[in-house]
Amino acid sequence: MNRRYSSLVLVFIGLLAGLARGGRLAAQGAPFANPAIEARVDALLGKMTTAEKIGQLNQLSIGNSTGPNAQIEAQTENELIKNGEAGALFNVIRAPAINAFQKEAMEGSRLHIPLLFGQDVIHGFHTLFPIPLGLSASWDPGLVELTARFAARESAQQGIRWTFSPMVDIARDPRWGRIAEGAGEDPYLGSAFAKAYVRGYQGTRLDDPSSIIACAKHYVGYGAAEGGRDYNTTEISERTLRDVYLPPFHAAVDAGVGSLMSAFNSLNGVPASANSFTLTTILRKEWNFQGLVDSDWTAVHEIMLHGIADDDRTAARKSFLAGVDMDMESGLFLSQLAELIRSGVVPMDRLNDAVRRVLRLKFALGLFEHPYADESVAAAPSVTADGRALARQAAEESFVLLENRSWKGAPLLPLAAAPGRKIALIGPLADSSEDMLGSWPGAADSRNVVTLRSALAERAARMKMPLTFARGADVTGVGTSGFTEATAAARQADVVLLALGERGRSSGEASSRAHLDLPGSQEQLLEAVVGTGKPVILIVFSGRPLALTWASEHVPAMMLGWFPGLEAGPALVRTLFGESDPAGRLTVSIPRSVGQVPIYYNAMNTGRPRSDPIGLGTQAPDAYYVTGYLDEKNVALYPFGAGLTYTSFGYSPVLVEPATLNAEAVNHGTVHFTVGAEIQNTGLRAGTETVQLYIRLRGTSVARPVRELKGFQRLTLAPGERRHVAFSLGREELAFWNIDMKDLVEPSSLYVWVAPDSAHGTPARVELTP
Ligand code: NOJ
Repeated sequence: MNRRYSSLVLVFIGLLAGLARGGRLAAQGAPFANPAIEARVDALLGKMTTAEKIGQLNQLSIGNSTGPNAQIEAQTENELIKNGEAGALFNVIRAPAINAFQKEAMEGSRLHIPLLFGQDVIHGFHTLFPIPLGLSASWDPGLVELTARFAARESAQQGIRWTFSPMVDIARDPRWGRIAEGAGEDPYLGSAFAKAYVRGYQGTRLDDPSSIIACAKHYVGYGAAEGGRDYNTTEISERTLRDVYLPPFHAAVDAGVGSLMSAFNSLNGVPASANSFTLTTILRKEWNFQGLVDSDWTAVHEIMLHGIADDDRTAARKSFLAGVDMDMESGLFLSQLAELIRSGVVPMDRLNDAVRRVLRLKFALGLFEHPYADESVAAAPSVTADGRALARQAAEESFVLLENRSWKGAPLLPLAAAPGRKIALIGPLADSSEDMLGSWPGAADSRNVVTLRSALAERAARMKMPLTFARGADVTGVGTSGFTEATAAARQADVVLLALGERGRSSGEASSRAHLDLPGSQEQLLEAVVGTGKPVILIVFSGRPLALTWASEHVPAMMLGWFPGLEAGPALVRTLFGESDPAGRLTVSIPRSVGQVPIYYNAMNTGRPRSDPIGLGTQAPDAYYVTGYLDEKNVALYPFGAGLTYTSFGYSPVLVEPATLNAEAVNHGTVHFTVGAEIQNTGLRAGTETVQLYIRLRGTSVARPVRELKGFQRLTLAPGERRHVAFSLGREELAFWNIDMKDLVEPSSLYVWVAPDSAHGTPARVELTP
């Protein structure tokens, strides 16, 4: 088949695949299956030399190079660009600098191929939103789509048309610092957020100047790092890979994501950046992914350190043939591919395929027509009122209220505005603007952060409520000299707000922790302040779940604030005073102690469970011989899905119809169960409930988790209001990778919960018949 003919066939197959998915790809601005673009890609490819093709696969960080390749170190970036030896740049974030590099490419290089500028735009650019783990606690993909769209607009304005986001790694270990960057431990929820980010960044058209290409990362298994140590080895069975770690990537691909990033970790002995099973068999052949695979930073080079290559040439060959298209920062594709092609070790078809994937994105973005950012628009980036409103809403939706006990006969929160009531604000994170940004702060300026202290000072003054502030301790310091001032402030107050937690940069990349308690002397500070006998509202800022076991038993009110971004203070003040109701829910289980980790809700049962929610009993020889610890409970401190509101909700029994369905018919997608329940606001205030649908399958060919999330709905109800919620359970929700590694619905018993979290509710049982 000649090249033109084969690419026409590919376009046709792509079009069919797009149509088969109900045209969703086109709707999400995906650059695929577009015959006009394919024709332009082919025409340009036909003019390129091998060296120019290889150049497109070389991605460089500006001003922050760590690439090991001597040739690159010896040349200036501009020379590389002029020679057509760089296809993409990152870590250059201002329009004038971006335009200057682009000018080299457009005017200096032989074929005038524009550069693609990427950046880690993770939770906002100038306008910073909560960290992704916080955003996920909203259980509101629509909100996340808006924040991604906003970030896209701000970064695109500077000429950045590609973000290395979303991180869709499932994370079950809070020691791993990068848990902050994802959507938590659940593949169903993670998939919903993956799609939302892609929709937000890529918009409906990529050639809209405010759209940027998304990059689902880190493909794949990175979140399963042993011991939570970043970059560490992962061992994941194929079934767990397909059931747990792959679904959010597949969802991103289905939503039309333009790129994926191959991960650092070694997966079952093969580095993820040289893993042809995941990069080619699954991604290209099974999912028909037409986008670009970028390596993570020097991951191509690191293959040598993993031990499956002992020279540059082998590292480049293994990675490229496995399916990595672009080399971030190691320079090995640039230095090695020419000889590998010449000697026939790497076929030209593979090179053309990779280059096509780069050019396709550049054409789709409209970069050939509009390579430059408009510097007059980009000149004075400022945080707008719209941006602040969205950042505030996002922060409010991210807060998770974990305790709200009664104090003198009423729940401590929300706080009443009572002139003369004295407030003490204590803690090292009450006034730390830098920390509120969390990891990957984008281009945000911490001077734009409104801290809890400044927002509260303004509010307290307006309400004539005297406010005293004491830092009490440093975030990580071990000193106790500030305790006297802190306890004195607490003693003279009527209510204490205690702002404790981690440094903003204690989570994220290379930021694993072996301990999950409050760092430094903060646990002691907490005990000292609680010891004053005053009512304490603890606000925890962190990028991971902390083991807040002592606090959970001793403070009347506790709320997780994550790292809320620019509008931290106003969002917290509005929530504490009840103008906004907390409705966030955990997307990760909170452990009682480090020794329990990993602890996640969708675990397998054992043959000797401590308890069994579907009433099978423990079946253990006696109560001693059951799964668990001698010195710690066997449950999380707070389970996945948990979170309180300022009101209360009642659930009717769940109704599933029909009582039986044929498994084969469900497989064919012709029938499904309908699940219904009535939810009522049984309290005195309006509030938002996140209704969660869980299933369990028994009698299957392989064991299934004790619960799996398969649906959720956020409902805002007035006091006394009731609403019927309905869900459907069909092939998509009920299929799993069975004993024969087929993704099928099997004859089994199906237990269904409609519940407020993963640990409560009573299931209904129906049957999937043979
Ligand atoms: C390494 C990180 O793992 C990745 O998430 C990030 O996108 C790249 N560096 C680029 O900064």
